[in-house]
Amino acid sequence: MDRSAGRTLAVQIADCIRAAIDGGHIEFGARLPSSRALSDEIGVARANVENAYDQLTAEGWIDARHGAGTYVRRIPAERSVTSRPTRSAASTPHTPERRVRLATGTPWVSPRVSAAWRRAWREVGTAPPPQSYPDPRGEPHLRAAVADLLGRARGLKTDAESVIITTGSMHGMALALPALADSSSSPGLAHENPGYRVATTTATRWGWSVHDVSVDADGMVIDELNRAPSNTRAVYVTPSHQYPTGGLLPVGRRRALADVARRRDLMIIEDDYDSEFRYGVAPLPTVAELAPDRTVYLGTVAKTLGGGIRIGWLVAPRHVLDRIVDVRTDLGDYPSLPVQHATASLLRDGEWDRTVRAARRLYRERDRRVAARLAEFGELRGVGAGMHTTLLLDPGVATAVAARAAAEGVDIDTLAESTRTDSPVTGLIVGYGSVSEDELAYGLDVLTDALRSVN
Ligand SMILES: Cc1ncc(COP(=O)(O)O)c(C=O)c1O
Repeated sequence: MDRSAGRTLAVQIADCIRAAIDGGHIEFGARLPSSRALSDEIGVARANVENAYDQLTAEGWIDARHGAGTYVRRIPAERSVTSRPTRSAASTPHTPERRVRLATGTPWVSPRVSAAWRRAWREVGTAPPPQSYPDPRGEPHLRAAVADLLGRARGLKTDAESVIITTGSMHGMALALPALADSSSSPGLAHENPGYRVATTTATRWGWSVHDVSVDADGMVIDELNRAPSNTRAVYVTPSHQYPTGGLLPVGRRRALADVARRRDLMIIEDDYDSEFRYGVAPLPTVAELAPDRTVYLGTVAKTLGGGIRIGWLVAPRHVLDRIVDVRTDLGDYPSLPVQHATASLLRDGEWDRTVRAARRLYRERDRRVAARLAEFGELRGVGAGMHTTLLLDPGVATAVAARAAAEGVDIDTLAESTRTDSPVTGLIVGYGSVSEDELAYGLDVLTDALRSVN
């Protein structure tokens, strides 16, 4: 351990173990020392080893079986890319005029308008009107700021030349799909089911057929891709926090995804919509890093600065990037220059970082609170990340609970709304991003009452 290094001891321990597993020095099934034994042996506080084990468990390298020890999971060898290391007293009365929507889409953004935000818009407002058309890839300084952000926040090494500025993740998808279609008259997209409906409607609007792939507690069941129809050109996936069921694609499946993409000549569309929000462990590496030649990576400010700004980005390999720029030039479809300038200034001045830090603190606490209130009613998925939690329930129960809650002024989505074809994964999606504290307290009271009365 190097105590003078910029990396924490937990990160260093995780890196060593990851490298040892990856290099074949620790075999599949091997039992790791207990956190106490290892911390004694290397002379660090036990919490460092526990944090490292938590991180490796979240990434899918090891399995901690309660009371039975910690074991190395089976990881397929990587082929061509280098590895990387009744109302409660607390609930205040609810104003009946307003409905409470425990929705998943909208984030909490601090109501305190900060100096950086005001400065950004002042700068834009005092500049002359932008006369000429923008760079079709996006403003160079915004692309550079995004490349820098992805490096420090996601560990994704890229540069301004590989980034295209979009008006959001789904806009990125709409630009990428025609570029990925080749000459195929009816290209196919493999998609998570349940999954993000906007992604499938975007695909069908562009003439793509959609092939549903199951999800389980770990996210997309990658093995099923081997049975995808022969017209399949791309696979859309939310590996950091499967939308909406919350699975975190473990490293073994990530590698299997990269592998099947290479074998079947598929492009991966990685929607990294809310990876900033992971509580307890660091955000997982991207699939784009594992398969840079095969991945179109989509990012957005919709979950951090807000959906109304309409700025996002995509990172793609060169040959795809050039085709996307052609599509955009043909459509004359550029994000507004002043909005790009203001976003660049918010990224540069640390506003994005501040907003994310404040929101992370709030969501972490809400994530725990929601999980604690709902755990007795069924299996929870997606805890510890994002701004929503999924509660698995029989479909009839989920519908009845949602109806009861709606009658009390609380709107909650069922998983059915995100499911295209039959899936055994059914239940409720409880979003806690955009509501006030009062609304959340009221929403949870109504929801738990409804769950008790229906069960
Ligand atoms: C899975 C997923 N992707 C992307 C987005 C946001 O996309 P956009 O940037 O297009 O607004 C959302 C928003 O709810 C989402 O749930």
